[in-house]
Amino acid sequence: MKILGVCNALVSGATLLVDGDVIASVNEERFSRIKNDRSFPRESIEYCLKSHGLIPGDIDYVSCGAWKGIDEFFLSQLINETVEAVMRDNYAKKIISERIQVSVERDQLFKRELIDNLGKMGFATDKIDFYDHHLSHAYTAFYPSPFKEALVLTIDGRGDFKSATISSASRSEGIQLIDSVSEINSLGYFYGYITNYFGFTPNKHEGKITGLAAYGDPKKCINILKRMIDYDKRIVAHIGENYTPFMSRKLPKIEKELSKFSREDICAGVQSLTEEIALKYLRKFLRRTKHRNVCLSGGVFGNVKINQKILESGGVDNIYVFPQMGDGGNAFGGALIKLYEMGGKFKYPLKHVYLGPEYSSTEISSTLLSYKSKVKYVRLEDYTLKRIAQDIADGLCIGIFTGRMEYGPRSLGSRSILVRAIDRDITEKLNKRLNRSEFMPFAPVTLEEYAGEYYKGWSKNHLASYFMTVCYVCSKKAKDQVAGVVHVDSTARPQIINKKHNRLYYDLLNEYYKLTGIPTLINTSFNNHEEPIVCSPEDAIKSLLIDNVDYVLIEDLVVSRT
Ligand SMILES: [Fe+2]
Repeated sequence: MKILGVCNALVSGATLLVDGDVIASVNEERFSRIKNDRSFPRESIEYCLKSHGLIPGDIDYVSCGAWKGIDEFFLSQLINETVEAVMRDNYAKKIISERIQVSVERDQLFKRELIDNLGKMGFATDKIDFYDHHLSHAYTAFYPSPFKEALVLTIDGRGDFKSATISSASRSEGIQLIDSVSEINSLGYFYGYITNYFGFTPNKHEGKITGLAAYGDPKKCINILKRMIDYDKRIVAHIGENYTPFMSRKLPKIEKELSKFSREDICAGVQSLTEEIALKYLRKFLRRTKHRNVCLSGGVFGNVKINQKILESGGVDNIYVFPQMGDGGNAFGGALIKLYEMGGKFKYPLKHVYLGPEYSSTEISSTLLSYKSKVKYVRLEDYTLKRIAQDIADGLCIGIFTGRMEYGPRSLGSRSILVRAIDRDITEKLNKRLNRSEFMPFAPVTLEEYAGEYYKGWSKNHLASYFMTVCYVCSKKAKDQVAGVVHVDSTARPQIINKKHNRLYYDLLNEYYKLTGIPTLINTSFNNHEEPIVCSPEDAIKSLLIDNVDYVLIEDLVVSRT
């Protein structure tokens, strides 16, 4: 059974499942080179088909994890939430009707665009299935996880008129929806609003708010923020002059109040309140269902600090976060829903996310030839991993480009930049070199054998830590030895690796460990400023040519500037 998942909700992409195995999964941004691209995912679809030697006619089902619209059951909930909001503030009527109108118009437009373009590619447009956006997030959260049963929490800005859902999931019984929150009471929009308030781009720069939060005092303005959104037996936004379900609407009254506080204190308050609301919502259903494992998906769980709080919250044994937790994962989710609808099963857990393009030695040679006046290369067998490890120990910044590209927002060793983590001022230096403005330190990669010595409470069964989707409090050893990756609140968000995940990546880090006694390096995404992670050898060379890295290991070639 060949299922093609497609989606263009916020971030577009495609996924190919064949007989319950994921063959390929990629987001369009990597081909178009436009960060968070949501245009029709033509190149992603073409790549998925090509990766298995297929043409459109070979696909049994085309499935989209969004644009289902609203059903009768949820319509009554949306009406209830609207009535309650209007009873609190009559002005909410106007805001909610604007929200719903914008949502209906935009969703129909994107759905139409998807259908029309799939038709042009040769797919039968009357056979495309559209599923609920949050159900799609829920499927990606649970089925690729290692758990037999779990509580599934999805939270984002909006999708198919919802902003959050809770479900009980088991391999035998499937996913049963327990509760949902409409898009008018959106925790994701609250976080996005603050991102916009500070001049950053919502749906893109939320990590900057999370990074800044560690420098502030959450108590200073949390009571003002609670006038925007809070938890009172459920998630309730105070729609009116203090909150709108839009990220870029001005709120003069609340902004006047917030202007009395520092950026750091506001961010700390926003982060703390978001954690508090998500945890209260989760706890209510943990108690009721007795689940001990939690699966997370939806853009809000790109927030590694919330994930850490859930893991540490007590009552939770383990968490799993889908590695492409945002809307870029909804093609995958749509394909999974169709798979289970047709009686198939996903081969879980998802062991890795190296699901994107790889390049042959002929393709790499041809790219190098076209840049022959600008780059030179030597073979890895002549240069050796040991020497690369020594270069990193000496302070060089090295790009690695190996095998299939990662799916999801994190570089995990296929398209990564590696730098030593011992320098306290490395965040500042690297931000300058890479033209970034991150407030969180760069993230570490650590050999699995030593992870327990560096990250408090880490356990080998924390699959989330292998995909860089959760933070840990660092040990004294980590703070002494790899200060560059430890945030001001003593946390880090590591990628843990073992030999099975990515052999070359592991071997290089192991060589560094043998040289220095330190099993940790900085692993940051291999990309140019505000661009997506590099995909092709040409993207990597372009990044080398603007001095993002001192040289780049492209498969078995060490490539540097002439
Ligand atoms: Fe979403």
